[in-house]
Amino acid sequence: MASSSSSSSSLLLMTLLSLSFLTNPSHSTTTNCSSQTFSKNRIFQTCNNLPQLNSSLHWTYNPSNSSLSLAFQATPPHPNGWIAWAINPTSKGMIGSQSLIAFHQPNGSMTVQTFDIEAYGPIKESPISIQVSDLEAEFSDGLMRIFATVGVANNATVLNQVWQVGGSVTGGVPDKHDFGQENLKAMGTVDLLQGESKQQQSNGATSAAGNQKQLNSIPSSSSLLSCCILFFSIFGGVWWL
Ligand SMILES: *[C@@H]1O[C@H](CO)[C@@H](O)[C@H](O)[C@H]1NC(C)=O
Ligand SMILES: *[C@@H]1O[C@H](CO)[C@@H](O)[C@H](O)[C@H]1NC(C)=O
Ligand SMILES: *[C@@H]1O[C@H](CO)[C@@H](O)[C@H](O)[C@H]1NC(C)=O
Ligand SMILES: *[C@@H]1O[C@H](CO)[C@@H](O)[C@H](O)[C@H]1NC(C)=O
Ligand SMILES: *[C@@H]1O[C@H](CO)[C@@H](O)[C@H](O)[C@H]1NC(C)=O
Repeated sequence: MASSSSSSSSLLLMTLLSLSFLTNPSHSTTTNCSSQTFSKNRIFQTCNNLPQLNSSLHWTYNPSNSSLSLAFQATPPHPNGWIAWAINPTSKGMIGSQSLIAFHQPNGSMTVQTFDIEAYGPIKESPISIQVSDLEAEFSDGLMRIFATVGVANNATVLNQVWQVGGSVTGGVPDKHDFGQENLKAMGTVDLLQGESKQQQSNGATSAAGNQKQLNSIPSSSSLLSCCILFFSIFGGVWWL
């Protein structure tokens, strides 16, 4: 009796788990941040596969000097395109983003420049309100990477992050990105204490800006770990112990 009821609850749990994996598209991308390595022996404490645009964020929070050392990696739609990562100190979306944007210069070398995104219109290189150092960009095999150390408020625990990719650059300025679902949803938070990136989602049908936003957890290494521990403690108990 006991074993049949535990195996049917195991089955139910397994179905629930596989459903949750099926309905979360982030699992079907090929990005796996834990297998990514960087030049110059750069190592980061935390990595998060971001839920949109096949991208990932690696970072180390340094509370001693209130800074975040990071690597952002994404595949632009075209090698002559661009990738961007930003902190938005004032709101959740693109407007107000203090952005780092990487792209090829006309002579072929990579650059990463700062842009204060004040409007949806054309953007231009400008100083940003957050402290930035160690800026560097790389390109290889269709992948672009931004390296930076950015300052965060000394009592910050959660940052609004925005990321993006675009297919072209004209006259040294990134052109506008596509407006697909992935592009529009590429925003969320970085939780400095929990080590997680979470997605910011607008409410399905009425996606008007300014609507109340809902925070949706995406699996990070730590939530995957706790999922595995749960999985093991239930299935391990039933099947192997
Ligand atoms: C997604 O990113 C990975 C590297 O993290 C890359 O190998 C892969 O080609 C990318 N997939 C797409 C569809 O761009
Ligand atoms: C990600 O890469 C790590 C290290 O290479 C590996 O152990 C892990 O199984 C990979 N995860 C997935 C989902 O492919
Ligand atoms: C803050 O401290 C970290 C770790 O000690 C260091 O790598 C980083 O360069 C420092 N950042 C600044 C802006 O001083
Ligand atoms: C390419 O152009 C940029 C900006 O003009 C310059 O800083 C950089 O050194 C150049 N790179 C090469 C390899 O010539
Ligand atoms: C962080 O510090 C600033 C300046 O001291 C203060 O205005 C703000 O309310 C603090 N925020 C939190 C979340 O404690």
